[in-house]
Parts: sequence; structure tokens; C-alpha cells
Amino acid sequence: MLDPTSSTDVFRVRGGRALQGTVHLSGAKNSALKLMAAAILCDGPVELREVPAIADVPVMADVLRGIGLEVDLDIEAGVCRLEPRRVQPVAPADAVRRIRASLSCLGPLVGRLRHARLALPGGDRIGARTIDLHARGLEAMGATVTVDNGEVEVVAPDLHGALVTLDFPSVGATENLLMAAVLADGPTVIDNAAREPEVQDLARMLVAMGARIEGIGSPTLEIDPVDRLAPVTWETCPDRIEAGTYAMAAAVTGGDVLIERVNASELTLPLLKLRAAGVLVEEGSHSLRVKADGLSSVDVVTLPYPGFPTDLQPQMMVLLSQAHGTSRCTENVFESRFSFVRELVRMGADVEIDGHHALIRGPARLSGATLSGLDVRAGAAGVMAGLVADGETVVRDVHHIDRGYAWFVPRLQALGADIERVSAADLDA
Ligand code: UD1
Repeated sequence: MLDPTSSTDVFRVRGGRALQGTVHLSGAKNSALKLMAAAILCDGPVELREVPAIADVPVMADVLRGIGLEVDLDIEAGVCRLEPRRVQPVAPADAVRRIRASLSCLGPLVGRLRHARLALPGGDRIGARTIDLHARGLEAMGATVTVDNGEVEVVAPDLHGALVTLDFPSVGATENLLMAAVLADGPTVIDNAAREPEVQDLARMLVAMGARIEGIGSPTLEIDPVDRLAPVTWETCPDRIEAGTYAMAAAVTGGDVLIERVNASELTLPLLKLRAAGVLVEEGSHSLRVKADGLSSVDVVTLPYPGFPTDLQPQMMVLLSQAHGTSRCTENVFESRFSFVRELVRMGADVEIDGHHALIRGPARLSGATLSGLDVRAGAAGVMAGLVADGETVVRDVHHIDRGYAWFVPRLQALGADIERVSAADLDA
């Protein structure tokens, strides 16, 4: 099975081919992992469908087994059945540290047991990623939160509802507070809540389990607690970031790709920017056709949903490096998300960074290079850069890409890309 923490494989990419054809996409990584965690709250089985075949999923299954859930995962079929048995508040540290999303167990454990102890998780290294907003929200609900020695412990014998106003619409904090609040004593209001489609997917599944949540998709979530949550079968929402990545890969290679299983309405700003860059985008009811022949510069600013997603910023930078003119890109969500730019510049891109602003002059001729140390999205962007570069690009540390993109290499191959997965040992031989 794929390992989200290390890989001895690399992707070898040879540039110059336009992507052509159809790609059918998976359920959203950032939803599936939280839906799995929400099973902690259930009085009975939860069956999830369209679970993506990514490396974080089996690790999350291990985290949940350690907490006391029975987990039956068929990753090829995209089906995961979870049932709480003897749920206990301490999550296994080794599995927890391997994925950032294991932090999503905090809220449901506190909701169900009034107690949680979790090692502070790993995941992408793209910023401070503190948990102060999670902690402050839980404290407002009567919990005592202690962070010590790489662990967070939450004790909340009298978990009551509260009005929580988040300083920033954090995805993870909104989800944890929501999952704690559905079984708290008394109503909770989360103000300045995150509105990402994956947060909405979680809230809707909780409602299908019997939770009472108003304002889903708005900045104010109102939660009336219930005594128990009932079994549910739920289909993970489509992965808008995966769809955006393929759309940008199609556009930057001057290709023509039909992307299936995507809600275009969740990609409003990325599609607006692609169109402004001269890309033809046709929206179907659950599909997108993206066709490009020449790109022009556009300005992009990342913001919480419905703003331009930070998770598409590195891919957009690759696209802008090939656009005629000067583009500006501002990163507002994760402070170190420009680290990928160093690699792109090494390949020949003309990018100037000033704090959280980048100036990109294009089009630049990219040359193949060996790229490493990238996170999940930067890894995908590195592959995209390889698709348009002269010669051969080798992307190392592909475990990052495996964490977020199901069947990445075969899907790109099916679209005509010259890409293969080889072991690093074979490459060096
Ligand atoms: C989730 C997504 C990630 C995406 C991000 C923003 C998952 C598994 N990951 O991450 O792919 O890039 O949303 O859309 O769903 N922050 C604090 N204190 C906190 C919490 C967050 O300062 O207590 C800061 C973070 O350092 C960051 C910003 O808030 O700068 C956004 O973080 P958040 O929205 O919480 O992202 P995640 O849930 O970690």
C-alpha cells in the first residue's frame, strides 16, 4: 500500500505533449478523511462511498482502529465501512503523526467521550498550522485544553454549547467544533465559519445522521445538539482541487480534456481566472471541458472559500509561468506556500517573490530538472511543470502526491502524458 510519509519511487516526466481525452475523478481527500473521523460520533455503522484511493485514507483507518472503531476499507472500490466499538480517547501516536487530518478526531472524541488525547499531527509543511483556533473554540464550550510534549489533551466533562467567533475561517477548526457541538449540552453558534464544500459535505452527512445544523454553506453555523447520531451511507463529494489541477494541466499543455465528476459551481473563481487567461471552459452538469491554445496573464489572490483556493496556487503558478505578460499572485492562507517557486525558477520560470506576493513574467521556457521536497499540491505542480518543460523532469518525494491524488500517473498517461512511476534505484542505476 502507498505510504504517505516516504516513497522510494519517483515520477519521470518528459514534456511536450498536450493532454487530450477524458478523466473521471475521485471523491475529495479533504472530505473523505473528515467523514471517516465523524464515524466516531455514530451509534452504529457508517458506510462511505467514493472514498479516494490516496495514501492518507488507510492511515486514517489505522488511527480510527486505534481509537476503537472497526474499519473495513476497500480502497480499490472506494468503500469504507466504519463502526465504533469500544471508543477510547487516546489515539495511536505513530499513525496520528503521519497525517495532519488525524487532528479531525479531536472534535468527535470530545463530543462523544468529553475527553481526547492526540499527538500533534504531521502532514504538509506549509506554514505554522497551529491549533489555537481549535483550542479557543473548545475552551469556549467548557473544555480544558493542554498542549504539552507534542500532544494535545482536551478534557470537557461539562461540554456546553457556546457562541464561538473564529478569528479566521479555519477549515479544521470549523469541522472540529462542529463535530464536538452536535453532541454537546446546549446550542452552539460558530461565526466566521469556513464554507468550503468539504465542510458542507461533513455538515450534510451529520444532518443525514440526525444532527440539527442550520446555515450550512454560510459563515454562521447554528447547531442544536442531539442525544445520538444514527447510521448512514454517504457518498463523498467530488474533489474540486483534483479537478482544478487537471483543468490547469490541460490548459498549460495546450490540451483538450473532459473532466468528469466535478461540480463546476465549486470552482467559480479558478474557472473565472482560467477564462480570463484565455482558456475555453465548458461546464456540464457534472463535467468540465477545458481547452487551451495560448495563455495570457491574470492576477490571482488566494482566500478562504469561495475565494481562489490556496490548494490550487502552485498549479496556477505553473500555468502563469507559461502565460504571455506579467501576472501577480498573492498567497493569503499559508505563509510558506511559495516554497515551490524556488523549484520552478530552477526550471527557468521568471518569478519574483516579495513577502506573500509573487510577480510572474511569461512565457518562460522551462527545462527539465530533478524536483524534491514538495508538498502534495506543489508535487502536482512539479509534474505539471515537467509536462511543459524541455527534456526530462524527475519528481522525487512522490509520497506527497500519493497523499492527495488517486491514480495520478495512470490518469495522466490515459490523457497522453509521457510520465511513468519508477523506483529511484532504477533511475540512479
Ligand atoms: C485544510 C485543508 C488544506 C487546505 C486548507 C485551507 C484538510 C485536510 N486540509 O487545512 O488542504 O489548504 O484547509 O483551505 O482539509 N490556523 C491557525 N490556527 C488554527 C488553525 C489554522 O492559525 O487553529 C491557520 C493556519 O496556519 C493557516 C490558516 O489558518 O494559515 C488556514 O488553516 P485551516 O483553514 O485550518 O486549514 P487546515 O484545516 O489545516
